[in-house]
Amino acid sequence: MSSAPSQQKILVAVVGVGLVGSEFINQLLSIPPQSSPFKLVSLTSSSRTLFTGKANPIEPNAPWKSLLASSKEAADLKTLTAHLAQLVGEKERVALVDNTSSEDIAGMYPVWLKAGINVITPNKKAFSGEAELFAKILSASQASGAKFLNEATVGAGLPVIAPLKELVATGDKIIKIEGVFSGTMSYIFNNFSTGTPDGPTFSSVVAVAREKGYTEPHPADDLNGFDVARKLTILSRLISSAPSASPSKLPSLQSFISVQTASLIPAALEGIPTGDEFIKRLPEFDEEFDKLRKEASKENKVLRFVGVVDVAGGQVRAGLEKYPIDHPFATSLGGSDNIVMFHTERYSPRPLIVQGAGAGAAVTAMGVLGDLLKLV
Ligand SMILES: NC(=O)c1ccc[n+]([C@@H]2O[C@H](COP(=O)([O-])OP(=O)(O)OC[C@H]3O[C@@H](n4cnc5c(N)ncnc54)[C@H](OP(=O)(O)O)[C@@H]3O)[C@@H](O)[C@H]2O)c1
Ligand SMILES: *[C@@H]1O[C@H](CO)[C@@H](O)[C@H](O)[C@H]1NC(C)=O
Ligand SMILES: *[C@@H]1O[C@H](CO)[C@@H](O)[C@H](O)[C@H]1NC(C)=O
Repeated sequence: MSSAPSQQKILVAVVGVGLVGSEFINQLLSIPPQSSPFKLVSLTSSSRTLFTGKANPIEPNAPWKSLLASSKEAADLKTLTAHLAQLVGEKERVALVDNTSSEDIAGMYPVWLKAGINVITPNKKAFSGEAELFAKILSASQASGAKFLNEATVGAGLPVIAPLKELVATGDKIIKIEGVFSGTMSYIFNNFSTGTPDGPTFSSVVAVAREKGYTEPHPADDLNGFDVARKLTILSRLISSAPSASPSKLPSLQSFISVQTASLIPAALEGIPTGDEFIKRLPEFDEEFDKLRKEASKENKVLRFVGVVDVAGGQVRAGLEKYPIDHPFATSLGGSDNIVMFHTERYSPRPLIVQGAGAGAAVTAMGVLGDLLKLV
């Protein structure tokens, strides 16, 4: 048996133990304890919290779900914050993993960072919401030195944020980032538009995607483009706020709502309350989508729902665009893949391209654990 390394371990608290959270915990606990730089010391669901104390962290084979479910401690952000801040006070390094999609939790990041707690998350809310919250996050992190890491907010486990940070930090100039950032939109248009003038109807493709669980229960929550707008906001702010950033033409985004987003929801279906009714009425608009497909095909192009951070042009936009049938967005995507192209001064004229599965618990949890390893 090798003895435990003397290096101080990073104490980890997880908030949100759903699909990705559970997968993340399993991946974290699969690192052998002797060589793991981490100790898992706290779990929080929407109702309960578990604190183990750093002397007896959660072990690899511990029944953590039932331990959390039977904890007497109600979930309370104040208590959690005080508890973790105290650990930082004892000179431990502490990382909080937010695996929720909660605005309330996102609103806590400045408090946690100020207290020296590192924040790691796939939750897009804090970085794509109000500019004031993002500014507070930046200043809290600068003041305390605690880090916030959010690789899994864009492209799930795909390396997007990390390479972008490196490009900027090493002095490359970003000209434009463009990509297919939504797994759902990717699936829909990979199937709907292949370059031929005909194909399945738009409504049937959306209905199949929904049946397979690739869309939100209400497909309008995907077709509105907001998920893409949030991801673009994160990338755009990263470029603008980088320590080495020179003034750019990028708009300062008050929130993801400021992104020019061309929703795919037909105006007449705006505000329909249920997903079922939405799906029932979507065929009324098949002709419009078919017309777009035919127009694209005539130009030897396909339709893709893309996001663009055009640094040189000073524009951030999301919407349906046409790409030649030999373009990577047309040829290399399958399933619900994401693809991101970085056009930079160095990567010009041939861009840097990242592509692969852009959703799923295993890859998303990997993105989160990869961020945690950056603290070591
Ligand atoms: N799945 C993916 O492929 C993927 C990819 C990239 C990013 N993400 C991001 O991952 C995050 C989670 O995804 P999701 O859509 O599955 O979220 P979700 O269904 O809302 O799951 C959130 C989980 O967090 C817990 N939770 C919610 N509010 C909480 C609170 N105030 N305090 C403590 N726990 C709370 C819930 O706990 P209870 O179970 O106790 O209610 C639930 O288990 C989101 O931010 C999402 O955007 C997911
Ligand atoms: C977080 O946990 C929830 C469980 O509700 C899961 O659905 C979600 O995908 C997880 N996301 C991340 C990023 O861990
Ligand atoms: C589109 O989806 C249908 C139904 O799943 C499938 O049969 C078809 O092969 C797909 N087409 C393409 C081009 O992916």
